[in-house]
Amino acid sequence: MTEKIAICPGSFDPITFGHIDIIQRAALMFDEIIVVIMKNISKTSGSFTPEERKEFILKCVGDIPNVRVDIYDGLLADYARQKNACAIIKGLRAMSDFEYEFQMALTNKKLNPEVETIFLTTSAENMYLSSSMVKQIASMGGDISDFVPKEILGEISSRLRKD
Ligand code: PNS
Repeated sequence: MTEKIAICPGSFDPITFGHIDIIQRAALMFDEIIVVIMKNISKTSGSFTPEERKEFILKCVGDIPNVRVDIYDGLLADYARQKNACAIIKGLRAMSDFEYEFQMALTNKKLNPEVETIFLTTSAENMYLSSSMVKQIASMGGDISDFVPKEILGEISSRLRKD
């Protein structure tokens, strides 16, 4: 039987408990999950390089046997085709996410009809969580231990903290 491969794309600048929850749940549903760091043209270049983000992700989910991490600078629809993926997994936090995600899902379906977008509802405790909030809190010296795992907490806090 062919392996069911799904992609979890995102900026992951940096990864948070919200992303980790979605990746862990997706890993139970598919044979293989590829977490891929991509460019979001509506966001700035970011606080961490793609390689740094990859290291953070590996520290958080690298022990899940069917999860791989990659970096890709191109269209998600093309990446999904290259990897023979059957699904793109996105987490939905609120209705405010939906309009944008719906538009992306339809665009990706047009560019690659072979791939389905599947939305997972975020866990209630992560409803409000976003990488940009985490960055804002850390840059002002706030405690982000409820938002990112201890494995990456120190590095993220020290890198983002403004003196
Ligand atoms: O974590 P984000 O920033 O919400 O992730 C958005 C991301 C990176 C998945 C999205 O911007 C994306 O798919 N970028 C790759 C380029 C692409 O395919 N753009 C067209 C999507 S319709």
